[in-house]
Amino acid sequence: MSKIPDVLLLFCFFGTAGALYKQWIPDTNYENKSNWDKGEVPCGSDTVQFAAQRKISVFVKNAHAVKEMRLPIDGEFILVIGAGFYVDNGQESGCGQGVTAHFTDSQPVQWFNPALWQTASTLSDLQFEKFLFSVHEESIPCAYDDVVFKKDTSFRVDTSSSQPIIPVRTVFLLGKTYEIGSEFSQYLSSRTGRLQFQGSSVVTVGNPGCGDPSGCVCGNSVNHQDICSTVTCGSLSCKKPLLPLGHCCGICGAILTIQFASNFNLQNYRERINHLFLILPQYKSIQLGMSKVQRSQRLLGILPFGTSPDIQVVILDGGKGKLAEDLAWDIINDARVHGSNLGITEAEFQASSGSNSSQSSGTAGMVVGVVFGVLLVLTLIVILVVLVQRRVLRMPPMPSLIIFRSNHDIGDLGGPLDHGFDNPIFDKPSMLPEMPSLYETSASIALSQTGVHFVNPVYDENETDFNA
Ligand SMILES: *[C@@H]1O[C@H](CO)[C@@H](O)[C@H](O)[C@H]1NC(C)=O
Repeated sequence: MSKIPDVLLLFCFFGTAGALYKQWIPDTNYENKSNWDKGEVPCGSDTVQFAAQRKISVFVKNAHAVKEMRLPIDGEFILVIGAGFYVDNGQESGCGQGVTAHFTDSQPVQWFNPALWQTASTLSDLQFEKFLFSVHEESIPCAYDDVVFKKDTSFRVDTSSSQPIIPVRTVFLLGKTYEIGSEFSQYLSSRTGRLQFQGSSVVTVGNPGCGDPSGCVCGNSVNHQDICSTVTCGSLSCKKPLLPLGHCCGICGAILTIQFASNFNLQNYRERINHLFLILPQYKSIQLGMSKVQRSQRLLGILPFGTSPDIQVVILDGGKGKLAEDLAWDIINDARVHGSNLGITEAEFQASSGSNSSQSSGTAGMVVGVVFGVLLVLTLIVILVVLVQRRVLRMPPMPSLIIFRSNHDIGDLGGPLDHGFDNPIFDKPSMLPEMPSLYETSASIALSQTGVHFVNPVYDENETDFNA
């Protein structure tokens, strides 16, 4: 047999792993209202004008009446069967006086503009508009992705960037899938190809797909500058906005970081989160993006010493981030219970409210926290009592106390032998408010009931005098 089936099989195999479909949104279709300056497709009494210098490939699906048409110097119409233009001298009903309609040139068309792409896991999801949310870098086609230009559309895309080539796995356009490099470069040099793809960088197909079931790192961080220069960040309403890896703007919401084992499958996990949580009515407004990212490791949080991959889950709720935090907890709890089956070894999150998963939450966390706290306090008390009883530990001498006592000596009682018996607390009530440290001391002393006599710092210093 020939080699072609093997090649196809190989592509099918690669296609099943972490790759996504990225669909280009704008088109240069004659029938798309947003391509006309009046917001309407020209009528039979209108003059249709294309800017003279505009290099453009326009897709036409229907037959259109026009009064007059001014064409660009370089350009083309792609006509489906039955489509075309005719002059009917304004016979078409409801057409009005007639205006000059301009095919617009105002829409942004940069390849690296995240707003111009839609992402989906499968072709049918693309068709049914079940789009996935992605961080900005991953909204643009990654090297292992399949690029889709909608059926029955033409387009113009500006590929200018700082990189010479833009590698992708396949490109689908005008009803044909290009997966072999030479075939696509031949298309690019055709007349239509040159009108559709303008700009300095060359799109190349035939890049291997993502063969790793746990996902692949997108690789668009090299284009971070080009991507973020097209993005305008909105204002945020939360206390501590978070910055996801690969995103151009801060977000209000939550970011989960998941460490994975060899049995982790990104696509299955994406579907699991979707079926368990995202379809719930309370999470209707949630946008969730999940991908493998390359995170730089830092020694003591400062010194970079390499990178390691993890799964980043970015959750936005369109508000202050409370809902996103709830969902983050749901995902963490699911990972705690089913982690070993899912191939998750560790999961944690940060929320824009300032909280994170290492803080205790819910009743279970509270109970554990309280029990631990009480045990810790009890242990400390026991140790303190034992140490104090064995006279290993002495209460620290209080400077203010000593000063007070020496004043007392001179003023009231005189003789040093009396020191063991006077109690400054009771002797001079008028001085009490000035001596907060004394209150603290007496409280600690009360703990060791049997040993008060020996450990009270008031007496302590004179014990030797006493025994002598
Ligand atoms: C018309 O073009 C706009 C912007 O380019 C796009 O968002 C929209 O989906 C297009 N409409 C149709 C019907 O394809």
